[in-house]
This record gives sequence, C-alpha cells and structure tokens, in this order.
Amino acid sequence: MTKLHPVPDTFAAHARIDRAQYETAYAESVKDPAAFWDRIGRRLDWITPYTQVKDVSYDARDLHIRWYYDGELNVSANCLDRHLAARGDKTAIIWEGDDPAESRRVSYRELHAEVCKAANLLTSLGIRKDDRVAIYLPMIPEAAVAMLACTRIGAIHTIVFAGFSPDSLASRIADSQCKLVITADEGLRGKKKVPLKANVDEALKRPNTNSVETVLVVRRTGGAIDMQVPRDRWWHALLADQPATHAPVACEAEHPLFILYTSGSTGTPKGVLHTTGGYLVYASFTHEAVFDLREDDVYWCTADIGWVTGHSYLIYGPLANGATTVMFEGVPNFPDSSRFWQVVDKHKVTLFYTAPTAIRALMREGEDPVRKTSRASLRLLGSVGEPINPEAWEWYYRVVGDSRCPIVDTWWQTETGGILITPLPGATDLKPGSATLPFFGITPQIVDANGAVLEGAAEGNLVLTDSWPGQMRTVYGDHQRFIDTYFRTYPGTYFTGDGARRDEDGYYWITGRVDDVINVSGHRLGTAEVESALVAHPQVAEAAVVGCPHDIKGQGIYAYVTLKTGVEPTDALRKELVAWVRKEIGPIATPDHLQWAPGLPKTRSGKIMRRILRKIAENQPDALGDTSTLADPSVVANLVNERLVR
Ligand code: WT7
Repeated sequence: MTKLHPVPDTFAAHARIDRAQYETAYAESVKDPAAFWDRIGRRLDWITPYTQVKDVSYDARDLHIRWYYDGELNVSANCLDRHLAARGDKTAIIWEGDDPAESRRVSYRELHAEVCKAANLLTSLGIRKDDRVAIYLPMIPEAAVAMLACTRIGAIHTIVFAGFSPDSLASRIADSQCKLVITADEGLRGKKKVPLKANVDEALKRPNTNSVETVLVVRRTGGAIDMQVPRDRWWHALLADQPATHAPVACEAEHPLFILYTSGSTGTPKGVLHTTGGYLVYASFTHEAVFDLREDDVYWCTADIGWVTGHSYLIYGPLANGATTVMFEGVPNFPDSSRFWQVVDKHKVTLFYTAPTAIRALMREGEDPVRKTSRASLRLLGSVGEPINPEAWEWYYRVVGDSRCPIVDTWWQTETGGILITPLPGATDLKPGSATLPFFGITPQIVDANGAVLEGAAEGNLVLTDSWPGQMRTVYGDHQRFIDTYFRTYPGTYFTGDGARRDEDGYYWITGRVDDVINVSGHRLGTAEVESALVAHPQVAEAAVVGCPHDIKGQGIYAYVTLKTGVEPTDALRKELVAWVRKEIGPIATPDHLQWAPGLPKTRSGKIMRRILRKIAENQPDALGDTSTLADPSVVANLVNERLVR
C-alpha cells in the first residue's frame, strides 16, 4: 500500500495554487492552450509584444512548433535589467565554493554590470547574434555571467559539462561549429583539480574544431596552464576594460537560445535546440509554480550547469523570477557527508532541489550527518533526474525534511525544457515514487507497443499529445533526426522514450527508459556511445552495453566485450578497457561491470538480442524469455555462467 501524504496545512493555507485552482486552470490550459499561454506569456518583458501565441503541428510531414512567434525579447534583460529597480540590491547568486570557507554573494546590480561587461567583451571578440559559443566551466559565477552575456547579444551557447573528456568536448564543438570557447584554468571538486584548459587544448587538436578563434580563460585555481597566443586570452584582463552598460539585443521569440547535447538511443549525442521566448516563459512559470516561490526564498538546485536542470532551474527560471539562487561548486561528501545540510543552514536555504542518486548516497551514511544540522529554514524539497524509489523518498521526507516539507518529484527531460509531470505543493497529495499529475497544458497519454491508447489505470509507453512553450524545436543541424526520433514512433504525438504507469487516481509513475538509453546517477547515456568507445580500442572486436540495477546510481553500466581473435582476456586488460571508456567519454561513463563475451546472443539476421543481455545483467537468468530465434543458443549459457552480478 502506498502511503498518501496530503498537502500540509501550511501549504494549503498559503498556496500560490490550491487544488481547486489547479483543477480549473488545468482544464482551461488543455481546452484552450493558446488563451492560457497568452496570459502566462505576459509574465516576461517583451521588446515587441506578441500577438500570435501558438502554431504547432505534430504531423511528421509538416512538423513545426512555434510559440509567441511574432514577439521579440531579450533573455538577459528579463533575468537582470527588469529587476534592477525593485531588486537591485537583492542577492541573485549565492556562490558556495568547494572549500567551505569560500562563499560570495552577487547582487542583481553586480550581476547586471558583469554581464554587460562580458557582452561587450564578446562583441569585441567578434561574436555576433547566431554565433555559437562553447562554455566549459566549473560551477562559478562566471558561468552564469557567460551564459547571460551570450543571451544579451543573441549568441547561442552550448554548455559542455566540465566532467566530460576532451573528445566529448571536441565532438560538440565540431557539431555546433563554435567560434569561442569559455573555460577556466582548472576546476575544483572535493579538493581535486580538473584540468579544464588542458582539456580544451586537447580538444582543439581534434578534427573540425578550427571554427574556434578564441579561448577565454577564467582564472579559478591559479594553476599553471599553457596560454597559446593569440588564441588564448584571460577573461579578467579583457573584462576589466569593458564598459558596464550594454543595450540588450532584441531577439525573435524563436531565436535559438542554446544547444545542449544529450544522449539518444542511437549514434552520437544530439544537439537539443531551445529557443528564446517559449523556453523562458516555461522555465520561469514552472519554477514559480512548482517550487511555490516567494520573494524571500533562498532556492538551491544542486544540478550542474552542464545539464538541462542547471540551465532551467539554476539559472534561467530563478533569475527570470528575481529569486536568490545558490550555486555550489563542490560535492555532497566533501569535507564530509553533512555538507549539503551545512550549506542549507549557512545560507538559510528554503527550497532544495536535488537528485535521487544523491539522496541514496547520503542515506547510506546514516541519519547522523543530517540530524546534526538544523535545516529549520527548509520548507520544500524537490527531486529530479530518475525515478525515486519509495524508500529514498521516505528518508528524504522524514530525515531531511523532518516530515514538514512536501517533496516535488518532477519528471521532465532535456528535450522538454522544463518540468512536465509534478506535484504542486499546495494542490497535490503526494504518493512516494510518483511524479503525480501533469503540469498546466501537458497532455500525457499511455500507449501500448502498437500505439493503441490505453485509458484509465494502465501501463505502457508515455507520449504527449500536444506542445508546450518550453519544448525543444529541433536537433541542431539535423531536423530530420528530430522528426524521426520523437514524432514517428506514435504518429501525431511526441514520444518521450519513457515507460509509465497511470494508477486509479490518474497519478503517473515513471518506470524508466524504454529505449537504449540508460540513466546513470540521473545522467543520460546512450548504450551505443559506450559501445562505440569500447570498439574503438584496438583489441576489442565487438561490445554490447546494457543498464543494470545499482543501489546508488539507479542504473549502472554493464558491458559485454568480445576480444579480437588471439587476445587474452586478462584482469589488466579489463582495467585498461574500463579506463579507456572513462577517458573517451568521461568519468560518468565508467563501466561498473565488464564481462568477457566469447560470443554475443544474436538473431539469425545478426541483431544483438539486448533483452537477453539485460536479464543476465539483472541476474535473472531464469527470465530470459524466448530464445528460439537465437542463431547460436550456446552463447547464452556461457554468458549466464560467467555473469558478474549474482
Ligand atoms: C530522463 C531525462 C529532467 C532533467 C534531468 C534529466 C528520467 C527525469 C525523472 C523523474 C522518473 C525521471 C526519465 C527522462 N527522469 N526525471 N522525476 N522520475 N524519471 O534530464 O538527462 O534529459 O533525462 O530522465 O527517464 O526521460 P535528461
């Protein structure tokens, strides 16, 4: 039996949105989306007000998605300039360094001045509207400045997570043809240094990266780095000479705002493109409604700016709303596993948003590290990135939130720009493990493998029948891939790639990816990416990668590797291959298990039967299902016998 957590009285009494309001406004939002979003769109400052709200077709032959499309606006002006009169001295960013002794507050006025200088600097370096800028920075205020400066001049940023390898950085730069890279000398996480500038140097030796004219380097650690003149320039030196005023450029609502690469079920990561008007309306509105935002809140989202959560709910949503947002450079277990809660007490955080993987890792350390802090400032908790198991939910609720704070379990994706299925804290009774109900304007549907719509309580694949303003608009440089990936499987709908169950109360329970994407610690990885890294090793003939259950990460990476004829499978080689993948993609792609596979289970037409490999990795050798179509059934017996998880 699932335990129901009703809306707490404190929230019901002061809710921004109570249950009746949710129900009425939701009904309106799906009945007449244009009227609903017309009203919501006015929350932003428009340079040219829109008169047209929605123009969408999900028909694959005529696919188009446009919102507010005759309006013009500027994102940085919405995040900064419009707050100056009433909130100039309000803290925009509380920066908490890796070292607990280091923190700093940046007011809206200060952030505005820095962003203006940076916008002038980018212009002086020849960056114009539509140019692509790669940002490869740690979690420091300069990252927010760089993002907002791009938006101020209409340049398109593509942030590459600072944990990614030179190869991953290079492929993103090559795909988007960036003119500028903004990086730091080194990053700092749990006292460990990350050689960011050296990684950029490596990346820029790779093919198709000579679009890059300039590398701007922020000094973070002061570590020794190589500066290649005239390509490499110091951020602080150039910024000092720039004027602290800058007139924001008017951007059409559908002007590209950013590209963010994310893994799919096939091929290389795709450049998810978000545009200006609809994205900002959606990020700011969801941030206010889902987190029940108040003027004096201190809001902390622990995500890195390298992921979409860091874009929408660390920077754009909060700053568009004039909120105070905490940016944390470090890691949850440094100096010790009380760090999150110490930071909560230090900065009096009221709204806290993190990932299930972090909760599970901290849960393992017991209650003491939490209990010895106060956390009295907290009033709301959030979860994102993967399904949260009910045990972790209850622990988060009881231990971290002292059974006082509602938890918003927010389901969404890089593609969706913002939260789609979520509780609203003043409106929704909570069920641990369920993302609950759709946000305004969101129309989920559950379909079976053939696309038949399932009504009532049902389990199947999750699709969305209509658009919302924050939806991605295309895959950068490959519109056909956009159409094929999301709009062909179940014609007329957007296919999420997730499975879901809807219960008798209409609550949604996300069951996880139904494609070849795995979710490791809330980070998406395509099994194909890990496979291609493995087969790039000279001694590997073939590889197949699947997800497997993992206590902390949610899913781990299980790799089956066939070596070239004559190569000995040794422990040393196993270690070498694990390190190889880590180096090729980044530490998040490190395989948890690597099993030697003399052969892989294939159909007679040569297709790898991943279903079987998944069951072996899940230690369910008795649930392999139908194996009659295998070309060589003996392959499976060997893999089962040698399996690494028991
Ligand atoms: C995939 C998207 C959304 C920003 C972070 C991840 C899974 C995300 C939840 C949740 C169950 C979730 C889905 C989704 N997911 N949030 N609350 N409950 N699953 O963005 O890297 O694009 O990954 O993360 O499987 O498809 P992403």
